[in-house]
Amino acid sequence: MIGVFDSGHGGLTVFRVLTARFPHLPFVYLGDHANVPYGDRASDDIVALTRRGVEALFRQGCRLVLLGCNTATCVAARTLQKDWLPVSGWAGHNILGIVAPTVEAATQTPWAVTSPQYPQKYNTDLIAVFGTTRTITSHVYPEEIRKRCPKVTVLQQACPGLAGAIERAEPVDVLDRLVGESVQDLMAAAGGSPPHRAILGCTHFPLVEGLFRAHLPAFTRILPQPEVVADSLEDYLARHPNFVAGREMPVAPILLTTGHPERVSAAARVFWREVPPFRHLAF
Ligand code: DGL
Repeated sequence: MIGVFDSGHGGLTVFRVLTARFPHLPFVYLGDHANVPYGDRASDDIVALTRRGVEALFRQGCRLVLLGCNTATCVAARTLQKDWLPVSGWAGHNILGIVAPTVEAATQTPWAVTSPQYPQKYNTDLIAVFGTTRTITSHVYPEEIRKRCPKVTVLQQACPGLAGAIERAEPVDVLDRLVGESVQDLMAAAGGSPPHRAILGCTHFPLVEGLFRAHLPAFTRILPQPEVVADSLEDYLARHPNFVAGREMPVAPILLTTGHPERVSAAARVFWREVPPFRHLAF
């Protein structure tokens, strides 16, 4: 089984694409709705909560867990992959993040290539990154992009409160104001130059992509993170077939939450009409 972890609903934007793309693969989703949002928490907290989520998915039988969360990926992925997993006792298991495929798509450079190559050496594009406070203060996106494209300008914009407001299903005018203010701040920092590409670097944000689209200049292309992540997972599974147990019949995805399953299912249906019901999982 393949696990997808997020602080709440956000990872469903990735999960929905994955389950449609790979209907024969058994997927399990875990949303830590009891502790959402992660984006303003201390880094140590995010690492500890993400480790608990990953272990919970390992215990469910997932040997591969994708962090469907930019905050968890930026803050916790490296520590969990490099320091925790090798000594955790979960041999044969792996953790993937969603920043690497996004940076690959934004720079048109494979993750394994960590120095500028022609023609990226001369790329002077402007890339906008919107994310939670913790994703932005981690500086993971600009650092990883600039390693590969040193002349690219990366402008980051924290959107504090937006993931929480989406999670609470705030009215559209509230969400629109939050998105509008973030885009305005970023455009002011850009001196009016329209970004070539925008990374919605929080998996909650595709749920309000229409609002970002309306506020961003028409010139700016929004990078489709869920699809980019699905492409990357397809490539990873082709190279690591040991994580795939072949099935012939489509399998129903399993959805778990640390929160209240009925409330979480009802809220998730607002943006994913056919979302399967959540079951409760205690950490
Ligand atoms: N959806 C998550 C992300 O991609 C986290 C949002 C939050 O919990 O603050 O960053």
